Amino acid sequence: MLSKKIEEALNKQIRIEAESSQVYLAMACWAEVQGFEGVAQFMFAHSDEERMHMLKLVKFVNERGGHAQVSDLDAPPTEFGSFKKMFETLFNHEVMVSQSINDLVHITLEERDYATHNFLQWYVSEQIEEEALARNILDKINLIGDDKGGLYLFDNDVKQLVAATDSTSK
Ligand code: FEO
Repeated sequence: MLSKKIEEALNKQIRIEAESSQVYLAMACWAEVQGFEGVAQFMFAHSDEERMHMLKLVKFVNERGGHAQVSDLDAPPTEFGSFKKMFETLFNHEVMVSQSINDLVHITLEERDYATHNFLQWYVSEQIEEEALARNILDKINLIGDDKGGLYLFDNDVKQLVAATDSTSK
């Protein structure tokens, strides 16, 4: 059974994951209308992953005697300036999510809720991967700068990354 404090904290995280899904969906649209198919595919897939992160929390809250809340969400931006800026935004967003997961883990220890603590370990590992991936992409884009030919190759690289991730997850 979840304490009220844990239930509220998990519901806050549900909202963060839902908003993450919206942010990456907006990034996918921005990339797609500019013809960057690889980056768009990457962002669409990432948006789906965030929805999965949200649903996992929703199921857990309901199974543990709480009530998962589906709340209103802040609208994401529609413009992201440049790919470099967009991937910087993505990286900073993931750092914020990791911090939020850390805070949540801390609350479970304070409340001595070891079941939720255990459940959250999946998110702890996932955030290490998400930050590493975002950092990796950001390193690549920093090498390219604003070079158009470089961006074209980068887009192809990202497309292959999505295809590789797809085939390993099946
Ligand atoms: Fe669900 Fe990207 O954190």
